[in-house]
Amino acid sequence: MLPTLFFAALCVALGSVTPVASLGTTCTKPLGSGNAAPGDPFWMQNIKHQGIAAFNPDPKTYQVFRNVKDFGAKGDGVTDDTAAINSAIAFGNRCQGGSDVCNSTTITPALVFFPQGTYLVSDSIVSLYYTVIAGDATNLPTILAASNHTTNAVIDADFAGYYVNQNNFFHSVRNLVLDLTQIPAGLQATGIHWQVSQTTSLMNIVINLSTAAGTQHQGIYMENGSGGFLGDVIINGGEFSQFMKMQGLKIVDRAIWHAITLTRFRFTVRNVTVNNAQIAVSAFWNWGWTFQGVNINNCGAIIDATVTNTPIFVRMGEASDGELLGAGSLVLNNINLSNVSTAIGVVDGTVVLAGGSGKMTIASWGQGNIYKGSNGNGTYTQGAIAAPPKPAVLLDDSGKIFGKGHPQYATYAVSDFVSVRDHGAKGDGKTDDTLALQAVFDAYAGCKIIFVDAGTYVVTSTLRIPAGAQVVGEAWSVIAGKGPVFQDQSNPQVVVQVGAPGSIGIMEITDIIFNTMGPVLCKQLPGAIVVEWNVKHTPAGVTGMWDSHIRLGGAAGTNLESNCPTDGSGGIDNCYAAFLGLHLTASSTAYLEGTWVWLADHDLDGTGNPMITLYSGRGILSESAGPVWMIGTAAEHHVIYQYNLQGAKNHYMGLIQTETPYFQPTPVAPSPFRVNSAFKDPSFDGVSSAWALNVAGSSNILVFGAGLYSFYSNYDQTCLTPVNCQDQIVNIDSTSSVYIYSLQTIGTTWQLSIDETGVVNQANNSNGFAQTVTSWTKGESTLEFWNQVENGVKWVLEWLY
Ligand SMILES: *[C@@H]1O[C@H](CO)[C@@H](O)[C@H](O)[C@H]1NC(C)=O
Ligand SMILES: *[C@@H]1O[C@H](CO)[C@@H](O)[C@H](O)[C@H]1NC(C)=O
Ligand SMILES: *[C@@H]1O[C@H](CO)[C@@H](O)[C@H](O)[C@H]1NC(C)=O
Ligand SMILES: *[C@@H]1O[C@H](CO)[C@@H](O)[C@H](O)[C@H]1NC(C)=O
Ligand SMILES: *[C@@H]1O[C@H](CO)[C@@H](O)[C@H](O)[C@H]1NC(C)=O
Ligand SMILES: *[C@@H]1O[C@H](CO)[C@@H](O)[C@H](O)[C@H]1NC(C)=O
Ligand SMILES: *[C@@H]1O[C@H](CO)[C@@H](O)[C@H](O)[C@H]1NC(C)=O
Ligand SMILES: *[C@@H]1O[C@H](CO)[C@@H](O)[C@H](O)[C@H]1NC(C)=O
Ligand SMILES: *[C@@H]1O[C@H](CO)[C@@H](O)[C@H](O)[C@H]1NC(C)=O
Repeated sequence: MLPTLFFAALCVALGSVTPVASLGTTCTKPLGSGNAAPGDPFWMQNIKHQGIAAFNPDPKTYQVFRNVKDFGAKGDGVTDDTAAINSAIAFGNRCQGGSDVCNSTTITPALVFFPQGTYLVSDSIVSLYYTVIAGDATNLPTILAASNHTTNAVIDADFAGYYVNQNNFFHSVRNLVLDLTQIPAGLQATGIHWQVSQTTSLMNIVINLSTAAGTQHQGIYMENGSGGFLGDVIINGGEFSQFMKMQGLKIVDRAIWHAITLTRFRFTVRNVTVNNAQIAVSAFWNWGWTFQGVNINNCGAIIDATVTNTPIFVRMGEASDGELLGAGSLVLNNINLSNVSTAIGVVDGTVVLAGGSGKMTIASWGQGNIYKGSNGNGTYTQGAIAAPPKPAVLLDDSGKIFGKGHPQYATYAVSDFVSVRDHGAKGDGKTDDTLALQAVFDAYAGCKIIFVDAGTYVVTSTLRIPAGAQVVGEAWSVIAGKGPVFQDQSNPQVVVQVGAPGSIGIMEITDIIFNTMGPVLCKQLPGAIVVEWNVKHTPAGVTGMWDSHIRLGGAAGTNLESNCPTDGSGGIDNCYAAFLGLHLTASSTAYLEGTWVWLADHDLDGTGNPMITLYSGRGILSESAGPVWMIGTAAEHHVIYQYNLQGAKNHYMGLIQTETPYFQPTPVAPSPFRVNSAFKDPSFDGVSSAWALNVAGSSNILVFGAGLYSFYSNYDQTCLTPVNCQDQIVNIDSTSSVYIYSLQTIGTTWQLSIDETGVVNQANNSNGFAQTVTSWTKGESTLEFWNQVENGVKWVLEWLY
């Protein structure tokens, strides 16, 4: 190991000042809020660019980072930069051309950077698979659509239908202004076409549309993709008026099953159409919202919204028929309306909930089937429903669910960063980088922002990221566990430990993927705990991960690919990917935004992208006393459970999305793993498939939107029609206090169980392909009890005086 002292000394030599021993590190922290001088470009522009694509056929010449100006873009607002920008993106034989040529790949990642400037374009900027498009965050570059623009979307993440929508992963667009105002208002121009799925994000984007009469412009068009994360998006669409055709955000088709969490929006939306989405809009943060007509067909859930000067807040596709059916499910929580004539309406003109010209508050309102406790008979409701108690630790100052965007360090200078490659880590997917990475983390956590240059960094024993660290990847840098340490299912070991047990300090991890690398050198990995999260700190949101994922198998270098076909002929031993994906331990606090804990169901790189059978024991285990925010998270295909809350408290989970392993019940869960009580596994008496959500001994758990899917029984989908791909999917023990809103399941007979006995049968909740429960609540939490006591006391006092 490189001597820690050496780095500490170097760090001091670089001008550190204030000791921050309280952050749990020994280094000194010169950063404060960053040392960028006014007018400096974003650090990303000038940091040394030495990231590599470890599994590219030619990693020496393949270029991950691309500055569009190096490819001839002028950014002068006059020159047509379309071709230059697209050549910057496409350089290096990337994945494009459609399913005959390439559906997906992990070997050609790209970070495409736009320096400050105005870039004139006349056709789509084509975001290819595995691309991060990032503008200068200190002064957002403008993409100016020319008046003769083709009106293909200004940025297109699925140009010409290159990718299968539900498998279009790894796209992120950030820090840009899209100006469409020169495109004639009468043309159907689109800011962003976002037909994508998981590991995708849109953030810090302004879209300016024409406000001229009759405008047909739309901000973001999402169709039949499935989720990802959107935050900090502003769509400016002019005045609220007769320009009814303008669409801020248009989301159509049923495939939007997955996490759609729109946070911190601040825009004018008109005529939003959301079909079958779980969460249409969930607005965190105290920013102004203006909606003009939100159409919701089938289920939706909206939390913390402020709506002003708007004719219709929510518009349903059709009237609810007032029977026990899952269609038309809607949940509204903490909504303030001001001058909204119709709070909830139907396309045919029916008014479900009237508004008015003044102010109105909707504390908690639901339409659909409401369940309580162990009563399997739901009650169809259209009106006020019990509001979940929201623990104060989950809220911001204004009483909304707390939210914090992906840190980008716009006020930090290049000198505030330290590169792991500069300090001996190779990231080549071969070299054991454990000691090199450990030395950098030990020396610089809390004193520099640790830049993990693009690459795949192999670690063969536990890598410890100390409290106080801020860690930034580049187009999803990969940290991969490998080797005999992680082979023993009965003695699982942590690959990446985030904060020592009990440690206190900030922790920010962005744009990183954690995974494992299977056989060849070191055999299978049934004993890998991929990430153990121990760190804790207040205030809210200072310990978190953004655009960071756990991706197991299915990618080049993992050796868990086409060698594990669906017929099981790869064997079990050779196809183990992990013991547990993410473990939030008891004293930790965590803010997870856009985290996907995925065991691959298909090979992203191999010829034909075949489906594969791999084994990972567990998805996300939380024993945290909170606060924990899981915003736009998902866990898929783990054998025992996707989410398991054990003794957990104060969690906000909105929206969570899961899929059961396609091979189950062959073998029957928990096989090929064993129930391990030390890790609080459920018992599996008479249950044959993975739990999507298992909760025991937990309190104040708020699930605001869940899409829990079981699409197969041993790779056969005929079970979807009788809705019996699996028997049970959500299990809550009789002691926990849990509040679930907008629960959507697929292929599962019992939508919710208590103590492993089915309670809510799907039969009454049919919603086409899916089944929807509007809310299920159980028991009174202590908090609820005290809220009631407090209200009672207030009431008595009011009555007395
Ligand atoms: C569109 O306008 C740009 C810039 O004004 C120009 O460079 C380009 O040639 C035009 N394209 C067409 C097809 O007219
Ligand atoms: C976008 O619109 C906003 C609001 O109208 C305006 O303040 C901003 O200057 C516009 N930006 C561009 C690049 O046109
Ligand atoms: C995507 O949705 C559009 C309609 O919005 C439909 O025409 C198209 O067939 C869909 N594509 C896929 C791949 O489902
Ligand atoms: C809303 O959009 C839908 C299509 O997405 C369109 O059919 C409808 O006419 C629009 N409504 C208004 C009022 O513009
Ligand atoms: C709505 O107004 C109430 C009372 O002013 C306030 O407590 C609440 O936080 C507001 N909600 C939103 C979403 O702004
Ligand atoms: C109320 O909202 C309507 C649009 O629905 C708008 O035309 C009107 O000007 C608003 N009234 C006030 C007082 O702002
Ligand atoms: C549910 O309703 C049925 C009749 O529809 C009744 O027989 C049964 O006792 C009810 N179950 C509960 C738990 O209330
Ligand atoms: C719900 O479905 C179950 C099973 O099909 C049935 O026994 C029960 O009566 C239904 N409850 C209501 C309220 O319709
Ligand atoms: C793309 O995926 C389809 C199956 O979804 C497969 O048939 C095809 O061969 C794949 N294309 C390539 C180039 O691997």
